Amino acid sequence: MYCAHVVGARPNFMKAAPVMRALARRPDVRQILVHTGQHYDQNMSEVFFRELEMPEPDYNLAVGSASHASQTAQIMMGFEPVLQEARPDLVLVYGDVNSTLAAALVCSKMGVPVGHVEAGLRSFDRRMPEEINRQLTDQIGDLLFTPSRDGDQNLLREGIPAERIRFVGNVMIDTLVKLLPKAASSLTEDLPAHYALVTLHRPSNVDESSTLREVLAALDEISHELPVIFPVHPRTRERIRRLAFRPHENFHFWGPQSYLQFLALQEGATLVITDSGGIQEETTFLGVPCLTLRESTERPVTVTLGTNLVLGRDLGRLRQEVSAILRGRRKPGSIPPLWDGKAGERIADVICGVGDRQTAVGLK
Ligand code: UD1
Repeated sequence: MYCAHVVGARPNFMKAAPVMRALARRPDVRQILVHTGQHYDQNMSEVFFRELEMPEPDYNLAVGSASHASQTAQIMMGFEPVLQEARPDLVLVYGDVNSTLAAALVCSKMGVPVGHVEAGLRSFDRRMPEEINRQLTDQIGDLLFTPSRDGDQNLLREGIPAERIRFVGNVMIDTLVKLLPKAASSLTEDLPAHYALVTLHRPSNVDESSTLREVLAALDEISHELPVIFPVHPRTRERIRRLAFRPHENFHFWGPQSYLQFLALQEGATLVITDSGGIQEETTFLGVPCLTLRESTERPVTVTLGTNLVLGRDLGRLRQEVSAILRGRRKPGSIPPLWDGKAGERIADVICGVGDRQTAVGLK
């Protein structure tokens, strides 16, 4: 079995690491790693490779930032010759970023089987580029590894045959479970005893200055009662700079954090306010209250079972929920099935055909 993994953006790295590790332990598996270079800053990429103990990529396509169409096209053009040269038996793609769809499309055009890790998630909001990436990648994929049962249902509803779908659990939690014991010692700054941890980078929250100004004003108000720590994504940083916003002294803007540092920040937070996908899941696993500033979530188990509340952009409700948590009224949560640190092993089992001969690759 010769397997190529394609990663490109920050949220891919912690998903690929446990799958690569599990496959490395199997006999007769050879692997290569392709980095598209969608994320390229040292603190958005390299530091993650180091902390996740991932090997150096065998290929780096160095596509960098561009419009969605241009970035997707450049990844496809860069990946095609890699696939021609390497000729793997299977390509694994991760999550829902532009690199995920671009690589899957190249595979489909070249007749190379594709496995999609974190398949089946749907926000049902087609204005999100990630939703289109998810839907199309799942249509192309030969093996669809779902993190939760809602993913299976979504795929079946879209007419995907059941034999392509494998419910394996959440690979991101594999990484969390492995690295949580190391997280606390990675922090270099002293933390307040109680704080809200904030991340925002979705175009719907940060691209319009009037929206961003309103969100920042609400967070500023919250910081009077509860210190706010906001590690800022590059695209958000640029937009905040243009607003010339003057924060309260308890409102701290930090640079992007490493995987371990951000995990430690989540673990210690009183609550998290976010528009990220993965953070909704990590907070559910950690039992930390999560307030999601989005209209919808593609990860509904974090709401039905976990600690997540999806608030839209209702900033009045945000203030109310923060007050409720500070007064001890927290939404109780539990950990979804198969978020147990062993999803990578289950994926390796499927790929190597352990106990499930039909899914051993040779799919086309
Ligand atoms: C991408 C994903 C998003 C994911 C996010 C995590 C898509 C469609 N979006 O969004 O799903 O939640 O990654 O971070 O794939 N930039 C840098 N340095 C970098 C990378 C980006 O400064 O290393 C800046 C550039 O100004 C760039 C902007 O961030 O234009 C956006 O980067 P891009 O990769 O296009 O999308 P993200 O917003 O990061």
